[in-house]
Amino acid sequence: MISPLALSEENGAKGKELYGIYCAVCHGTKGDGQGILMTREKFLGVPSYADREITPGSIYHVLMYGKNAMGSHAGQVNAKERWQIAQHVMELRNTLVK
Ligand code: HEC
Repeated sequence: MISPLALSEENGAKGKELYGIYCAVCHGTKGDGQGILMTREKFLGVPSYADREITPGSIYHVLMYGKNAMGSHAGQVNAKERWQIAQHVMELRNTLVK
C-alpha cells in the first residue's frame, strides 16, 4: 500500500500530534520502545522502530489490524490520520537508524 498523501510538514506535524496521543505511551516519543508504560514495566515487548523493517504501508496495516500485543487502532484514527502517523513514524525511524 502506498500513501495517497503528499509528504508535507503539515501531515508530519499532524502525525506527530496523533502519535503523542496514541502511540508514545508504549513506543516512546522517539520511537525507541521506551514509552512510559514500558519504563514502568506495565507493558513489555515494545520494539524500537529501528529494529523493524517497516514502510508507510506496513505501518498503516499494523494500525488497521494490530499485531500480537499491539491492538488495532482502526477505531481511534481514520485513514488520513493513519497515513499522517505513518509519515511521523518513518521520520522517527530515520532518526533512530542514523
Ligand atoms: C499498548 C502498547 C502499544 C500502543 C499504544 C501502540 N503500540 Fe505499536 N507495538 C506495540 C507492541 C507490543 C509491538 C510489537 C508487536 C509484535 O511484533 O509482536 C508494536 C509494534 C509496532 C510496529 C512494528 C510492526 C512491525 O511490522 O514490525 C509499529 C510500526 C507500531 N507498533 C506502530 C504504532 C503506532 C503508530 C501506534 C500509535 C497509533 C502504536 N504502535 C501504538 C505496542 C503498542
